[in-house]
Amino acid sequence: MSKTLLITGGASGIGAETARRAAVRGYKVAINFRTRDSQARAIVADIEAKGGRAIALPGDVAHEADIIRLFEETERTLGPITQLVNSAGSNGRRGRVDEYDAAVLANLFATNVIGLMLCCREAAKRMSTKNGGKGGAIVNVSSMAATIGGRLGSSAYAASKGAVDAFTKGFAREVAAEGIRVNSLRPGMVLSEMTEARLKKPEFRAHLEASIPMRRVGQSHEIAEAILWLLSDEASFVTGAMLDAAGGGYII
Ligand SMILES: NC(=O)c1ccc[n+]([C@@H]2O[C@H](COP(=O)([O-])OP(=O)(O)OC[C@H]3O[C@@H](n4cnc5c(N)ncnc54)[C@H](OP(=O)(O)O)[C@@H]3O)[C@@H](O)[C@H]2O)c1
Repeated sequence: MSKTLLITGGASGIGAETARRAAVRGYKVAINFRTRDSQARAIVADIEAKGGRAIALPGDVAHEADIIRLFEETERTLGPITQLVNSAGSNGRRGRVDEYDAAVLANLFATNVIGLMLCCREAAKRMSTKNGGKGGAIVNVSSMAATIGGRLGSSAYAASKGAVDAFTKGFAREVAAEGIRVNSLRPGMVLSEMTEARLKKPEFRAHLEASIPMRRVGQSHEIAEAILWLLSDEASFVTGAMLDAAGGGYII
């Protein structure tokens, strides 16, 4: 069966690595980006040069109208969406609770939680066998931060990812009998555009890696492989699960 995968936040980091690897496995790939136009187009060009099929779609998942357009354009160009990866995410502004800013919090949750939930709504409408769809698989990219409330200064981000995990479990149960599997993937600290500025500081990196059982940060491809497994038929009995790809989590 033809497989069409939509990836939000697909122009960088974990999303980009998932896009490239999915194309090699025969998926047609729609790569959503917010500001990274040239990065998205470069991935599309690479995929097409290797004989794959991909498109780049602008859109901000904090805006419902953009989400609806993303799904419509993907289907118009590539056919019915069979898989969705919600990788778009923001870490907001790091800071303690007494430094919280309401507008920053609202945008964090609009992107990481509400946007992700609305993408799941659009996917479920199309994939559900109840609505005439053929089923599908969804992976929501959460974070190990959800398990401990985040490292210091990341409580808001951790809360948004905790919401992703809780939503994923509930949503998975709602659509399990309608052919849709939904899982969350919780990366630990991974080297990507989101973290590279902090990880470039040797002292910070050494301190951080000492707190990880495997004593190293992860690479985007290590997360992408776990996502692709959850999307695949090999994971056919796995739904409502939280898969940690985190080098063992935290040494506490
Ligand atoms: N790297 C880690 O250590 C780590 C650990 C745990 C979980 N995660 C999660 O993994 C996911 C991917 O992150 P990453 O590490 O691959 O970092 P990344 O390279 O910064 O990827 C995040 C992507 O999301 C996009 N994005 C942000 N807000 C968006 C919006 N409103 N609409 C559409 N796209 C938006 C970003 O594009 P713009 O730059 O244009 O906004 C960026 O391309 C995120 O959900 C993140 O929370 C990462």
